[in-house]
Amino acid sequence: STPNQLTFIGGGCLAQALISGIYSTNTSWRDGCKISVTARRQERIDELKAKFPLATVTSNNLDPAIWSTATSQQSDSHVVLICTLPIDVPKVCLELAGIIKTLDVTSRPTVVTMCPGISVAQLQSWLPEETPVVRSMPNTPVMCRQGATALFPSDSALSRIELVAAVFREVSPAISVLPQESLLDVVAAISGSAPAHFYYLIESMITAAESHGLPTDIARSLI
Ligand SMILES: NC(=O)c1ccc[n+]([C@@H]2O[C@H](COP(=O)([O-])OP(=O)(O)OC[C@H]3O[C@@H](n4cnc5c(N)ncnc54)[C@H](OP(=O)(O)O)[C@@H]3O)[C@@H](O)[C@H]2O)c1
Repeated sequence: STPNQLTFIGGGCLAQALISGIYSTNTSWRDGCKISVTARRQERIDELKAKFPLATVTSNNLDPAIWSTATSQQSDSHVVLICTLPIDVPKVCLELAGIIKTLDVTSRPTVVTMCPGISVAQLQSWLPEETPVVRSMPNTPVMCRQGATALFPSDSALSRIELVAAVFREVSPAISVLPQESLLDVVAAISGSAPAHFYYLIESMITAAESHGLPTDIARSLI
């Protein structure tokens, strides 16, 4: 199963990495898929419009340009990725709840989050009952389509997991579906943070080389 509509709520670093990766692939489903992205500030809206001219870009999470197609098409192939910081997730879910509950229970979009620390139970308390929810934990190498991503579905999203995996597969060669939600915390500490640990190691090596007299530019090029 592949998505016919992708909506990114929040157009920051991670959303842009995912959208860039999806636009740079030749995957068969991408051309028939409506891609939308939202943000708050006009500056960000302008940046997103310039970067993704084929996408629908709006500052309104409930923009009919996103949701009118969702109601008239099959919404069960619509994936909504909440890409805001964790603090904004409850507000976004409550906002989306109003529109999701107008859709038939069997054809609700799949809501995906990428926040460490926000549980399926919390998401289900903010969204209408039976909304399929998938928690994801990607990492920054999705920017160069080399990410590693773990997924955990709610019970009502078990049949949607392939749909969500199809999206992440475009930017993440490694995808694992976890057997327990608590393992997402382990993933956040391991693959989620691993690139940062490696950069820290490289920086430490550059600092050590400098302290022994190697000029910075030479240290950087050799390490
Ligand atoms: N970056 C990573 O490597 C990484 C890895 C794994 C998971 N995550 C998770 O991914 C999420 C996003 O991270 P990020 O680094 O992409 O954050 P970010 O760059 O700060 O982007 C957040 C975006 O959310 C938008 N936003 C905030 N409230 C909104 C609302 N009510 N409606 C619509 N848009 C809203 C912001 O809009 P404005 O720009 O207009 O303010 C901004 O574009 C976080 O939960 C983070 O924990 C990130």
